[in-house]
Amino acid sequence: MKSTALGATGVSISAIGLGGFELGPERGQEPDLAGAQSLLAAAESAGINWVDTSENYHDNANEELIGAALGSVGGDFLVTTKVAPSAGLSAAASGFRREQIHRGCRSSLQRLQRDHIDVYLLHWPDRSGDVPLEESWGAMAELADEGLVRAVGLSNYELPDIERAHRQRSVDLIQTGLSLVHCLEDRPLIGGCADLGIPVTIYEPLAGGILSGQTLAEQRERWAAYADSGFYRNLLEAERGERSAAVAAGVGRLAERKGCTTAQLAIAWVLHQRGIVAALAGTRKPARVAENARAADVDASDVIDDLEALIPLGPAFA
Ligand SMILES: NC(=O)c1ccc[n+]([C@@H]2O[C@H](COP(=O)([O-])OP(=O)(O)OC[C@H]3O[C@@H](n4cnc5c(N)ncnc54)[C@H](OP(=O)(O)O)[C@@H]3O)[C@@H](O)[C@H]2O)c1
Repeated sequence: MKSTALGATGVSISAIGLGGFELGPERGQEPDLAGAQSLLAAAESAGINWVDTSENYHDNANEELIGAALGSVGGDFLVTTKVAPSAGLSAAASGFRREQIHRGCRSSLQRLQRDHIDVYLLHWPDRSGDVPLEESWGAMAELADEGLVRAVGLSNYELPDIERAHRQRSVDLIQTGLSLVHCLEDRPLIGGCADLGIPVTIYEPLAGGILSGQTLAEQRERWAAYADSGFYRNLLEAERGERSAAVAAGVGRLAERKGCTTAQLAIAWVLHQRGIVAALAGTRKPARVAENARAADVDASDVIDDLEALIPLGPAFA
């Protein structure tokens, strides 16, 4: 699989990464070590060389599980993880003060059972306004200088902040969301990163599974427990759900013409965008890991105009 070097960091990531969040453990469930091992092994044999997690995924337990499961793949399999500001959704967030980030990194290393993190990211901006970006980003630079992390990046930041951080110390990687049905307003940001020469990786390329062969009823049932979330309201609620399904159906028709699956073409559209070097897809099913990995071989260029024409049918235009 094609891979991209992150500047001079020595880190090179494959065009598809394995989303770690889906490895669990969901609240109230025991960690499934054998399940996590088989997903990682499926990823490695499909040519994927990295898994993405965060300290706050399942309150630290996702990093712990991935750390325990990494023995099932080669020692050079890469890990990206994130430190989260404390003013947020999760209790398992270190905070963005310099000392908090240093402590958070060391705790992540312990849970991951590694002596370094390949890519360490600030998960989302500190919206409390208490901690200047310069302090947090300076701490990330120190961790890189110490050799505890090989590359540093930002997730869910706006372009002016990315530029500001990049002036202080190069941003090695951006992680942000994009799919044919959501986060489309971030396309200028991605283009701006391309202009700065900062590689961009994308989460939720399948919009949480909406852009796959599944029916709207199946999607709504799958997401029923999160019906009060912004994700559900924007993509699956009345009318918007039908619009999401119309885009998914359109992708499905084009995929059939190309001899690939809906999910593969949805990911291939993401990878076709200027500046994007990799997409993260998450699944609990090893066969889907292999399916998603093969999206890296799908060349979407001959159907790009048809895919773009589907976007206005989608929920962002409701
Ligand atoms: N930085 C951030 O703020 C942020 C935010 C969100 C996510 N992330 C990262 O990005 C990763 C990926 O995001 P995501 O998992 O939410 O996005 P996604 O890949 O768009 O959606 C994953 C969902 O799609 C389904 N799916 C995956 N492959 C499929 C296929 N081939 N056919 C049908 N359904 C399929 C999965 O269900 P099954 O399990 O049933 O297959 C899963 O629930 C996460 O694991 C996490 O590491 C980062």
